[in-house]
Amino acid sequence: MNLTFTAEQEMMRKMVRDFAENEIAPFIENMEKGEFPREILRKMGELGLMGIPVPEKYGGAEMDFTSYIIAINEISRVSATLGVILSVHTSVGTNPIVYFGTEEQKQKYVPKLASGEYLGAFCLTEPSSGSDAASLKTRAVKKGGHYVLNGSKMFITNGGEADIYIVFANTDARLGTKGIAAFIVEKDTPGLVIGKDEKKMGLHGSRTVQLTFEDMHVPVENLLGNESEGFKIAMANLDVGRIGIATQALGIAEAALSAATAYAKEREQFGKPIAAQQGIAFKLADMATSVEAAKLLVYRAADLRSKGLKCGMEASMAKLFATKTAVEVTTEAIQVFGGYGYTEDYPVERYFRDAKVTEIYEGTSEIQRIVISKYL
Ligand code: CAA
Repeated sequence: MNLTFTAEQEMMRKMVRDFAENEIAPFIENMEKGEFPREILRKMGELGLMGIPVPEKYGGAEMDFTSYIIAINEISRVSATLGVILSVHTSVGTNPIVYFGTEEQKQKYVPKLASGEYLGAFCLTEPSSGSDAASLKTRAVKKGGHYVLNGSKMFITNGGEADIYIVFANTDARLGTKGIAAFIVEKDTPGLVIGKDEKKMGLHGSRTVQLTFEDMHVPVENLLGNESEGFKIAMANLDVGRIGIATQALGIAEAALSAATAYAKEREQFGKPIAAQQGIAFKLADMATSVEAAKLLVYRAADLRSKGLKCGMEASMAKLFATKTAVEVTTEAIQVFGGYGYTEDYPVERYFRDAKVTEIYEGTSEIQRIVISKYL
């Protein structure tokens, strides 16, 4: 594996880093108060960041997958909120149409998603089906030119803000995973009800809502793939999505390490900087080693994906390790800051709050272990 980045990838890193520091960082306070970063997403669309791996033919930048991961990495170092919005929009909001859509569906939806005019969301989880995704209860019944959907979805990232929802529903419960279909649902479809906003521990600028479908009529031409392909579509796109979330976690961990290192060099106790005291120096060394290992797993999975190779196991390994690293490194960063780290005066408490959910969404750490062990 080539462990260096190409000139083009480095340009992407620099461009996104500048954007994140100049445009995203000043808006963090607003996001912490719950404001959705609509204007920043519009600017990201102008820069081509909302469709990085999408083919040019459908309005995307058609860059390699690693470049897309570099963008999530840089954005998440500054704002994990924008990291998850971008990852969900691209990996599981847009890609299902790119990879499983008909030519007509791609022409109709992908250019708008890739330009950022539309935002995407992914609706798999339900109040009673999370890890056991195949046990979902939302029903889709074909009636003439429509599928009529009834049911509810839970923890939908970008919900309420998204223009396009990839929705999974059962057409025949007796068929198990083969009875699950995927649908492209437009936001103003009658019967699509946006429910309660979750009050979350972190990611305050990202919206997470419940959705209800009340006799929601979806035109038959919005079925994605065939009726029995929905579960496969969900799983295949989650493989890729999990690299995005692993990268979000990596970005958070890098930010926490960098803040803790800078603080440890400045803060003096017992007559010298705490970075020169072994208790803190060893802590920073362990944090840096974990971050480096997470980075290698993330970019290894991204490299496989860029080359069009299978990456399901590597994506799960990257997610398992990078998200654990994010939780551990942000915890230790607070420890390095001491009492100051527990206040809102420094960003490490935000990193800590944002890190936890990376071990939960797009498949918990326990689910990643199931996926990895199945490959073994
Ligand atoms: N790619 C393609 N097909 C796949 C696949 C993959 N990665 N993984 C499984 N499949 C196929 C299998 O081949 C199988 O098909 P066949 O019967 O033809 O062989 C079928 O799907 C069923 O597979 P399993 O028997 O392995 O399915 P399972 O019911 O045991 O579930 C699981 C497997 C891995 C536990 C799965 O349920 C899972 O991933 N659960 C976690 C759910 C999850 O990640 N939710 C995230 C919600 S989205 C989100 O969080 C986004 C956000 O907002 C941030």
